[in-house]
Amino acid sequence: MNKLLIKGSRPLSGHVDISGMKNAVLPILYGTIIANDVCVIEHVPPIGDIEATLKILQEMGAIVRYLDETTVEIDTRAVKQGTAPNTLVSTLRGSTYLLGAELARYGCARVGVPGGCHIGPRPIDLHISGFRKLGAEVTDDGIFVSASAPVGLSGNKIVFDKVSVGATCNMLLAACTAKGLTVIDNAAREPHIVDLAGFLNTCGAQITGAGTSTIKVRGVPALHGCRYAVIPDMIEAGTYMAATAAVGGQVTLHNVIPKHMETVTAKLREMGVTVVEEDESITVISNGRFRSARIETQAYPGFPTDMHPQFAVLFAIAQGASTITEHIFPNRFAYAQELKKMGAAITVENNCAFFVNVMKLRGASVSATDLRAGAALVIAALAAEGETRIDGVEHIRRGYVDIVGKLKALGADIEWVEE
Ligand code: UD1
Repeated sequence: MNKLLIKGSRPLSGHVDISGMKNAVLPILYGTIIANDVCVIEHVPPIGDIEATLKILQEMGAIVRYLDETTVEIDTRAVKQGTAPNTLVSTLRGSTYLLGAELARYGCARVGVPGGCHIGPRPIDLHISGFRKLGAEVTDDGIFVSASAPVGLSGNKIVFDKVSVGATCNMLLAACTAKGLTVIDNAAREPHIVDLAGFLNTCGAQITGAGTSTIKVRGVPALHGCRYAVIPDMIEAGTYMAATAAVGGQVTLHNVIPKHMETVTAKLREMGVTVVEEDESITVISNGRFRSARIETQAYPGFPTDMHPQFAVLFAIAQGASTITEHIFPNRFAYAQELKKMGAAITVENNCAFFVNVMKLRGASVSATDLRAGAALVIAALAAEGETRIDGVEHIRRGYVDIVGKLKALGADIEWVEE
């Protein structure tokens, strides 16, 4: 099934369960290597990126067993350093975490330069400078990154000159078994950083301050296995919130942490969409009509860059003129060309997109160029008049659990097709 076929303009209603967070599970899965033991991880989303990561662990010698659909047992005792299959590693951004995990367990690491979504340059200089601060010698020949700390890593103060989710995760992984105290300043504060620290602490690490911009890691000699449940995916939740707002209807999301959704919720309310928060659920009520707004993407707790393309769809049909300024990934506008095929009026200049509202999008044949652009096209197709065919669906499969099943249950006319 290589395309999605969507017939639009059907309101969404009902309930949707949000899955575990992809970007939290990825560093946690690599963290199981450091545990050198058996870990059981709950709420693991069955999506392309996670399946590929579990395959990497298996090829490295881990024994991976699904206890149920979303609970995975991973025994990393037989994992061998430097055995990750490069063909898989090079397709995934998350595989950068192998560097921190291998350094922590073996004192050396060799990992193919990571891939991931095509949303512009994804440097890893902050990761490399952080590893060097911890005492590793690091080389990057453009194909492989190699790191070595023959006498082990030593704690140090790391001050990032830019906030990076990936570099912060990698420092937590590397530093948890380093000698002494590591202090990470200007750390990312995303909920998945807190979740990774929660997992590592449950494995015996001593990490404090996760969720603030200063994190302290007191090194321990070794970690051990644990059982850990991953947080809900705030970007999947935000995607269903944006879809409900765009198409109209009433949808309740279960298994969400409303606090993580605050910027998305606030922006939807500012636009005139009703959002009702409860302890672990959020209900969005929309008649498909809402006001324009402005967004500037920022690191958490700012507006997430991973919600930018989905909100671009809302802005294409909002009443009035809207703007998005992208501060994290300045080239993240490939979706604009595709939305224009559906009738959207968007002008992109440098790292800004300007939207003039159109009454209605219309169905077209479009192509998903990356994960969140793919999500945006699904929302656009659900809101549009007529039929939309989306190809490049492998990007969508990488990050969304059963998107067809979940949307069908809400009343959408959506199916996988082979063409
Ligand atoms: C992670 C997420 C991604 C999300 C992003 C920002 C994963 C697998 N991916 O990506 O979905 O969009 O956070 O929330 O979790 N940078 C450097 N040097 C570095 C590292 C980053 O200059 O060494 C820059 C990046 O180009 C970007 C900014 O820092 O401009 C933030 O990137 P970062 O937070 O590291 O994103 P990722 O961890 O790659």
